[in-house]
Amino acid sequence: MELEQALLERRTVRKYAQKVVPDEELYYLIDAARRASCARNDQRLRYVVARTPELVAKIFNHTAWAGAVAPRRDPVPGVSAPAAFIAVTGKAAEADTPLLQTDCGAAIQTIQLAAWGKGIGCCWLGSVDRKAIHALLELPEDTAILYIIALGYADEKPVSEDVDDPSKVKYYLDSDDLLHVPKLSVESLTVWK
Ligand SMILES: Cc1cc2nc3c(=O)[nH]c(=O)nc-3n(C[C@H](O)[C@H](O)[C@H](O)COP(=O)(O)O)c2cc1C
Repeated sequence: MELEQALLERRTVRKYAQKVVPDEELYYLIDAARRASCARNDQRLRYVVARTPELVAKIFNHTAWAGAVAPRRDPVPGVSAPAAFIAVTGKAAEADTPLLQTDCGAAIQTIQLAAWGKGIGCCWLGSVDRKAIHALLELPEDTAILYIIALGYADEKPVSEDVDDPSKVKYYLDSDDLLHVPKLSVESLTVWK
């Protein structure tokens, strides 16, 4: 897939085909993420890939999905739930620092774009029970979960449309169950000097 197409068309996916994502593909996503920009090139992020069905099902119980389109975009186990999760972690003592959080954003967006190019949809998850997932992943005390990424072969293709009004950015499902994600236009966001 062309980079430009991925950049313009990537959308968060919350409906997944019930199909295994091979370890090679998950490896590729981490391989892409580790090359993302990071402050001072310190490379302080670490990744935990959960892809056994038992563990994925347990983690799924501690995730929350798109309030604006609930319950229609709440993934259903065995029907539309993700095939894997990647936990992006860092040192607990640094977890709330702007630099580590920013590194994490760059890494996750890289994973999302790399995945999109392979037909794998992602949902970046902040509404998760970090404590419960930390225990499930048997992480050490000094390690914190920054974010979780849900992944699976996409079984929906959300669309975006340009809007100029910041009060009109709420995403929604139409009568055909198509997810629309309004994005503010370049014109409404940018001042040229
Ligand atoms: C920091 C962050 C946290 C997010 N947390 C959640 C979440 O807990 N649940 C969810 O369904 N989506 C979550 N999302 C996905 C956003 O809802 C999604 O990115 C947004 O609606 C824009 O859609 P797009 O990614 O298709 O552009 C999160 C995204 C970000 C960047």
